[in-house]
Amino acid sequence: MIDLPPARILAIETSCDETAAAVIENGRALLASTVASQMDIHARYGGVYPEVAARQHVLSILPVIEQTLAQAHLALSDINAIAATRGPGLAGSLVVGLNVAKGLALGAGLPLVGVNHLEGHIYSAWVYNDGEPPAPEPQFPLMALLVSGGHTELNLMDAHLSYKRLGATLDDAAGEAFDKVARLLGLPYPGGPSVQKAAEEGDPTAFKFPRAWLEGTWNFSFSGLKTAVLKESKRLDGRPLPVADLAASFQAAVVDVLFNKTLNAAREFNVRQIVVGGGVSSNKPLRDAFLAQAEFPVNIPRLSLCTDNAAMIAAAGSFRYALGHTDGLEIDILPTWPLS
Ligand code: KG4
Ligand code: ZN
Repeated sequence: MIDLPPARILAIETSCDETAAAVIENGRALLASTVASQMDIHARYGGVYPEVAARQHVLSILPVIEQTLAQAHLALSDINAIAATRGPGLAGSLVVGLNVAKGLALGAGLPLVGVNHLEGHIYSAWVYNDGEPPAPEPQFPLMALLVSGGHTELNLMDAHLSYKRLGATLDDAAGEAFDKVARLLGLPYPGGPSVQKAAEEGDPTAFKFPRAWLEGTWNFSFSGLKTAVLKESKRLDGRPLPVADLAASFQAAVVDVLFNKTLNAAREFNVRQIVVGGGVSSNKPLRDAFLAQAEFPVNIPRLSLCTDNAAMIAAAGSFRYALGHTDGLEIDILPTWPLS
């Protein structure tokens, strides 16, 4: 663990469809966090509509920042650096947050820190509410499972800000598979929470869906599983879909692969901690699987920090700032990962 100089970071996150700001102190103590969700707007289209998302960020970003600073009882003059998500994400959305961050940094004479959205998901695992008992500290080496709407990958971290990608999905991301299967089953957007809810009434052993173990690699694949759900629903030939059983069996297959591959990777690389981050880390059976094993300490963010938020960007930004990774105003968005 490095000793962070006492610093307060204001962070902005606009990579997809949430307009978010947060302030963190000393890298992990969350003083305030605001997330303005556009979910209701995009639900009409069954997914995120990029142009609409970008325009909505323009409308929401300043009120969201003002509300966050007010909630923390702070002024811009109390802040040490401004962090913002550079990518990956939707270009039109990223540009709004990054440019507002540049404006604030320039106007207030503060350093600017560009943060990768995925490292943010990892760093959310160590965040705790100011005044509450701290979450367990980072311990290296660690195995990070990143499961979001756009990414599914295993990263080995030997130190802060050092990511070795061991494997990733060859096709759909885990969250994407949840979203697509939800649509197929007629469940509302966003798909992950809908599938989880429907699965509560279902039997996870009702359908024997395939698991792509991809032995000998740390990669994942979910498109075959998605196709198996599609085939099974077509085989029912117009009869009412057993939605709960299909959802539960699909979810069990995803959790089985994510959990077991991560555990095997943790053993193989002899890590001291497992971290699970990204929107799919809010999935209850996935959390339960990790929390039920006693072999490795596991850090999973609390539910409000699993899906996109700015606390995670503030957390990763704090460590970047502390380690001297600040940026000039010339930086641009980088919608892909890894950053450099
Ligand atoms: O990290 P995130 O908010 O955005 C990206 O960076 O992509 O992740 C969003 C993804 C969506 O695909 C959503 O369906 C999934 O996370 N998700 C879930 C759950 N909550 C959100 N998937 C499974 N179970 C959940 N409870
Ligand atoms: Zn995300």
